Amino acid sequence: MDVNGKSYRTIWLKPDQPEVIQVIDQRHLPHRFVIEDLTTVDEVAIAIKEMHVRGAGVIGASAGYGMYLAALEAKAQGKFEVQEFLEAMGAKLRQTRPTAVNLEWAINRQLEAIKPLGNDIEAIIEKTLAVAGAIALEDVQLCKSIGEHGFELIKNLSEQKQGDTVNILTHCNAGWLGCVDNGTATSPIYEAHRKGLKVHVWVDETRPRNQGARLTAWELGQQGVPHTVIPDNVGGHLMQHGMVDIVIVGSDRTSYTGDVANKIGTYLKALAAKDNNIPFYVALTYSAFDWGISDGVKQIPIEQRDATEVKYIKGLKDGEIIEVLLTPENSPAANYGFDVTPARLITGLITDRGVCPATAEGIKNLYPDFSPF
Ligand code: MRU
Repeated sequence: MDVNGKSYRTIWLKPDQPEVIQVIDQRHLPHRFVIEDLTTVDEVAIAIKEMHVRGAGVIGASAGYGMYLAALEAKAQGKFEVQEFLEAMGAKLRQTRPTAVNLEWAINRQLEAIKPLGNDIEAIIEKTLAVAGAIALEDVQLCKSIGEHGFELIKNLSEQKQGDTVNILTHCNAGWLGCVDNGTATSPIYEAHRKGLKVHVWVDETRPRNQGARLTAWELGQQGVPHTVIPDNVGGHLMQHGMVDIVIVGSDRTSYTGDVANKIGTYLKALAAKDNNIPFYVALTYSAFDWGISDGVKQIPIEQRDATEVKYIKGLKDGEIIEVLLTPENSPAANYGFDVTPARLITGLITDRGVCPATAEGIKNLYPDFSPF
């Protein structure tokens, strides 16, 4: 997508230095646009854990490239047991963040791809590079398809409103920054905007890391999409007053029965939407389904992060990024990263293969090749 008129993805190979991966370091946005070089698997692990890159899609793509860097390291260190080394590096990457299933999906895809290659290091380097590139490119294409399918929902609402502005509420950042390009939840919005429909986005600030206020607002602004940042607790009020036509969020892991893990606070938005009869949609690629989980609330692992993220808040003052303490110094804080919205609260899933009900049956109809039953 465009940044100051120049087109970017969130992750790519450094031009003329294919042993270096470049990412947009999202910690600095919206105040600074910083590109980071990643040259080792440890650097990739830190980038994922410390959220230089965040969002299910780009976490998966980073893990894919992390495995390629691991293969380069195996060669540099003269490892003989290359498969074993890559398994260990995969395990290291797997531990970085527990909720987004794209992480383990990408690592498993790499490990499967190299299995037939024994310890042939050159073949493994070539393969892991190809697979990493394929994961990233596929994410771009899958998100584009989500945009085309989700566009129809926005178009219908626009027609119902006789061309008046469609108000969309979103939570966190399921935009192109959370993917490789286009985004999941934002892709239908960008498509509608490009095609001339009038849209306006209510952007939940998304405490504690403020991915909405910092990232979604920034990327929508860069593309010229009208939007308003709101504190997290405003959505219910807006819904009661007819100011939200549809909610679209992303997903970090969705059970094959349609329960959705997404950024903490998503569940409360779904409850408010249900109470106000407002369509609540989740946009996701097939790589965000967990085909081994039937009960999302009980089975999806929920990341807990450091209390400092709740207790301190970051912002720009006089051109410097500063961090200030928000709470009494000694008050403990709890920092659950995600929650699970049960399928019964979800109107539908906007996937790369079309829109379906958030039910095992609906998902199976679109993905008979993956569904476990
Ligand atoms: O903690 P984050 O910022 O990685 O959480 C991101 C989200 O919850 C997104 O909504 C989700 O990953 C979908 S983006 C493809």
